[in-house]
Amino acid sequence: MTAHPIAASTAAGALAIDHAGDGDTAALAALWERAGLTRPWNDPLADIALARRGPHSTILVARQGEAIAGSVMVGHDGHRGWLYYLAVEPALRGKGIGRALARAAEDWLRGRAVPKLMLMVRPDNADVRAFYEALGYLEEERIVFSRRLDGR
Ligand SMILES: CC(C)(COP(=O)(O)OP(=O)(O)OC[C@H]1O[C@@H](n2cnc3c(N)ncnc32)[C@H](O)[C@@H]1OP(=O)(O)O)[C@@H](O)C(=O)NCCC(=O)NCCS
Repeated sequence: MTAHPIAASTAAGALAIDHAGDGDTAALAALWERAGLTRPWNDPLADIALARRGPHSTILVARQGEAIAGSVMVGHDGHRGWLYYLAVEPALRGKGIGRALARAAEDWLRGRAVPKLMLMVRPDNADVRAFYEALGYLEEERIVFSRRLDGR
């Protein structure tokens, strides 16, 4: 299992990647908002609390000193790993922080013997494909079904 914090060297300087703490919730929700990842039907505060409950999920945070430069939610369902809410502070993009966070999420899963990582990209966010392709991810042909369990 990867020990945290881990140090990552990027074009934005040195980063420390560790688990989100109680004091990070508001900043994470604001970062996701700035990154265009929030949706009216997803309450980011509830999403953060659920992922942080663990033990099969967590939120990894890249820190530049006290400031949050980026984050990623990662977890597994006993079969596959899933990545959500990968976000880098807009002013710090293109400097390798997204890559470092994705690699940290992969390491977190590898440390739990999870053999494959999955993620979903919204159709209106097609630009991000090039990012995942640069990191070696493959686009798969799947149809995703869902059903709400919370009565909404
Ligand atoms: C996607 C995101 C996390 C990438 O973070 P980043 O720190 O800018 O990415 P990196 O600097 O680590 O880039 C890694 C590689 O991807 C490439 N890349 C990153 N963004 C790209 C883009 N929009 N188009 C093409 N290539 C891109 C980089 O060129 C780099 O490739 P290289 O190493 O071969 O030069 C960031 O743009 C972001 O927060 N976007 C908004 C939120 C989002 O859409 N998240 C994904 C939800 S599925």
